[in-house]
Amino acid sequence: MAETKKKTAVLISGRGSNLEALMKAAEAADYPAEIALVLSTKGDSPGLRHAKDKGIVTGVLHEKWETKTEFELNLDAVLQDAAVEIVCLAGFMRILSKRFVDAWRDRILNIHPSLLPLFPGLNTHSRALAAGVRFHGATVHFVRAQVDAGPIVTQGVVPVLSDDTPEVLADRVLRVEHRIYPLALDLVASGRAKIREERVLLSDVEATPEASLLSPPD
Ligand code: GRF
Repeated sequence: MAETKKKTAVLISGRGSNLEALMKAAEAADYPAEIALVLSTKGDSPGLRHAKDKGIVTGVLHEKWETKTEFELNLDAVLQDAAVEIVCLAGFMRILSKRFVDAWRDRILNIHPSLLPLFPGLNTHSRALAAGVRFHGATVHFVRAQVDAGPIVTQGVVPVLSDDTPEVLADRVLRVEHRIYPLALDLVASGRAKIREERVLLSDVEATPEASLLSPPD
């Protein structure tokens, strides 16, 4: 068993398939993070139900707050009360302010469905198809105030096939997302991924994590 598991909160807004992948990975005795809290902006999100079923503490981030500042002060208080050390954004559909992101600097991760810095923002799969790229994928990165930017922890690559639709490509990318997010949280929670001059340096990693991702998905 990992000696001290890092208390991790996962913030979602919907489906929660990445949350599920993180929860599954965290079941391993030697995984360095514990999913201690799951917060959703939607009370009826499937991800929230899965977390509840697993006995994880959950909460709904109501939109009742009049201002973004109030919303974030509440979020900050909830995270602090639960002694959260790492926050994972997984399909969390709210943009966090610079003030919040700076307060949690180097402790928030996000997963984005493209090979950043290509295609930040929405509709990444149709944009990748329109651009004619041969490879596409997903990125886990530390969060900075600029949306979909920040030091990259891991990336997963998939081929783009000539008859792909955005939906087919999204599904292929999602499968790689489910592999790289648990890997990235493992690297960060274990202290093997450190930020130096806005790049992530890995230590005590035998092969590059990406090497293990080049094999076909399970
Ligand atoms: C994923 O594609 C993720 O990269 C993006 O939002 C989607 C969330 O999917 N940020 P899920 O809720 O984890 O299934």
